[in-house]
Amino acid sequence: METTENTLKRIGQEQILRYWGELNESEKKSLEAQVRGTDWSVLENLAHPENLSGKGKIEPISGLRAKEIEARREEFFALGKEAIKKGKVSAVLLAGGQGTRLGTDAPKGTFDIGITRPLYIFQQQIENLLEVTNECGAYVPLYVMTSEKNNDETVAFWKEKNYFGYPAQYVRFFKQDMAPAVDFSGKVILEGKANIALSPNGNGGWYSSLARCGLLSEIRARGIEWLNAFAVDNVLQRIADPVFVGACIAEGVNCGSKVVCKAEPHEKVGVLCLEDGKPNIIEYYELTEEMANARDEKGDLQYIYGVILNYLFRLEKLDEVADAKIPVHVVKKKVPYLSEAGELVKPQTENGYKFETLILDMIKLMETCLPFEVVREREFAPIKNRTGVDSVETARELLQKNGIVL
Ligand code: UTP
Repeated sequence: METTENTLKRIGQEQILRYWGELNESEKKSLEAQVRGTDWSVLENLAHPENLSGKGKIEPISGLRAKEIEARREEFFALGKEAIKKGKVSAVLLAGGQGTRLGTDAPKGTFDIGITRPLYIFQQQIENLLEVTNECGAYVPLYVMTSEKNNDETVAFWKEKNYFGYPAQYVRFFKQDMAPAVDFSGKVILEGKANIALSPNGNGGWYSSLARCGLLSEIRARGIEWLNAFAVDNVLQRIADPVFVGACIAEGVNCGSKVVCKAEPHEKVGVLCLEDGKPNIIEYYELTEEMANARDEKGDLQYIYGVILNYLFRLEKLDEVADAKIPVHVVKKKVPYLSEAGELVKPQTENGYKFETLILDMIKLMETCLPFEVVREREFAPIKNRTGVDSVETARELLQKNGIVL
């Protein structure tokens, strides 16, 4: 086996051993394990940090508008309910993020958004899910993705709160992979004398992490056919929504995406569209001025479908494309680092890059995707910040408008 020193020499990262002489035996072992356990291939992406898009021909995608869904609600509901009752639907809660904008070190889902009673983000999500499972008369297996950083705290919290009333045998936790952070010259940052700065590698790793943790075989054994992956922070979302599931079955697609109609042409949301005839999501800043403003004959925006991080994937198709690579995004971030004096510094400005894959990049691989419009005020209340846009304040207001007592 290659020694730690040789591995680091080969990839030009010997500075990781800067404090080797000061470490005790267990710290040395721990640092060696981190070096062995890290996927160094992400560093190759530094060679072309801006060269991700290389977009093909972009066109609008047609989807199901809320009105049409309403008209076909019974048909979709019946199909979705049947799939749920037969155990074909599961949910994947993406909770491996660090929630830096919310400014808490605790897992985001443990954040209390209540006013007169405690109401944790995780609890609200489970209450939303229980509405569905009560309506359908069957539980939906729930897979919760955590990271090395927040797993223990998350699992302990769920246990302490008795799984918020969901049956524990339907809940599994799994950890996503970690990636190293580097400074602007490409050198891996240390956050301790024996600790590499590692962070969760983005929400695109959920499926490969499920596989690595051995849970995909359980999913197959359970006869699950659909996986509904969703973000931890939208407290109004419908999870394993039978109408959404039914619509994807009826339309024969490999995946579906819940979307909201953009409030204005330049709204800062990813937009579902077609790229070279395949569904894809492009960032709001990738839309040209002309595309952002383009309207159809009814006067609606052509690039209208904003994604809200709630996707339904057909397992069969995921398995088929399991080996396909999705892009690694190189993102500027504030990364705590060890100063020359050996003290941990929390920088005020960005000082390095992190490497992330994104779930939205998986949509293209699925080849067909149904945009499924939901009513924003009823299903979209993301908590990204403490105050202002997409914050605890705005989410509380929306929850109350939907009759939820805080
Ligand atoms: P965000 O992009 O909002 O990131 O994640 P974040 O880490 O939660 O928050 P900020 O940007 O630091 O403030 C969208 C969803 O993807 C999950 C998050 O938990 C959230 O549900 N996610 C993100 C992961 O599961 N893993 C990751 O590595 C990143």
